[in-house]
Amino acid sequence: LHVAVLMGGWAHEREVSLMSGKGVADALESRGHQVTRIDMDRQVAARIAEAAPDVVFNALHGVPGEDGTVQGMLDLMGVPYTHSGLATSVIAIDKELTKQALVPKGIPMPGGRIVKSEELFERDPIARPYVLKPVNEGSSVGVAIVTDDSNYGNPIGRDVAGPWQEFRQLLAEPFIKGREMTTAVIDTPDGPRALGVTELIVKSGFYDYENKYTDGKTEHVCPAKIPAEIAALCEDYALRAHQALGCKGTSRTDFRWDDEQGEDGLFVLETNTQPGMTPLSLVPEQAKHAGMEYADLVEAIVADALR
Ligand code: DAL
Ligand code: MG
Repeated sequence: LHVAVLMGGWAHEREVSLMSGKGVADALESRGHQVTRIDMDRQVAARIAEAAPDVVFNALHGVPGEDGTVQGMLDLMGVPYTHSGLATSVIAIDKELTKQALVPKGIPMPGGRIVKSEELFERDPIARPYVLKPVNEGSSVGVAIVTDDSNYGNPIGRDVAGPWQEFRQLLAEPFIKGREMTTAVIDTPDGPRALGVTELIVKSGFYDYENKYTDGKTEHVCPAKIPAEIAALCEDYALRAHQALGCKGTSRTDFRWDDEQGEDGLFVLETNTQPGMTPLSLVPEQAKHAGMEYADLVEAIVADALR
């Protein structure tokens, strides 16, 4: 096959995407496929048309590669591509729209609300401790946890560095104490399959950008050492989220679990439609544990795009 691997772009997650794209492109070449590597710019449509690939592997993260924009462009061009389509991407990139889609289906997600950054200068939007996050970023870009002893002051200070300086619309969610976990789903010819549960144990702070992408800063426990009923619930929620959102190829659903509350303490944070494919990423790790090498996973995602 001739596969164009789309990567990079201008999102905050550009560097992550370049790592994902390199991994994917190298793996495809190792399996004998012809690969065109495309670092996305605003001429990307012309470059894809010129390359005329059989399929595009979308290794982009964030806006505009994960929010439906690139998907719509590829739909118009009539080029098959990996991962989720336009409508799913529009919803899943937006953590608030995701809640509106999943909570009515019985998938528990934290409450909270959208706040404009200037509101934060007046008062806390919800009771502390809470999490502030941009609605449509990934890799924890712009995430802050506001606790009673956060030195942001009360109200939050205009001059203190935080997501409010760059992102006008933020999501404020109650902080769920406890544990951080994730479950990957891949589409197979027999339907979607959950690949297990990984727990992320950070050495310090929370599972933020630095702890995600610096080797040694986070311990990945795969499979997670959690009760079987919690693992089963994670897989059930991840599969149901994948299906309810209409995800394709693969997705990864992230959780917080307050283990003092048992099953009632398990919450879905979001479903990622373009999960990372870097050496430290979680979907390849879970796939490997489930018996699939990295290149097998990449080929399975490509095969799904052509199904
Ligand atoms: N947003 C990053 C790439 C992830 O979900 O893995
Ligand atoms: Mg994410």
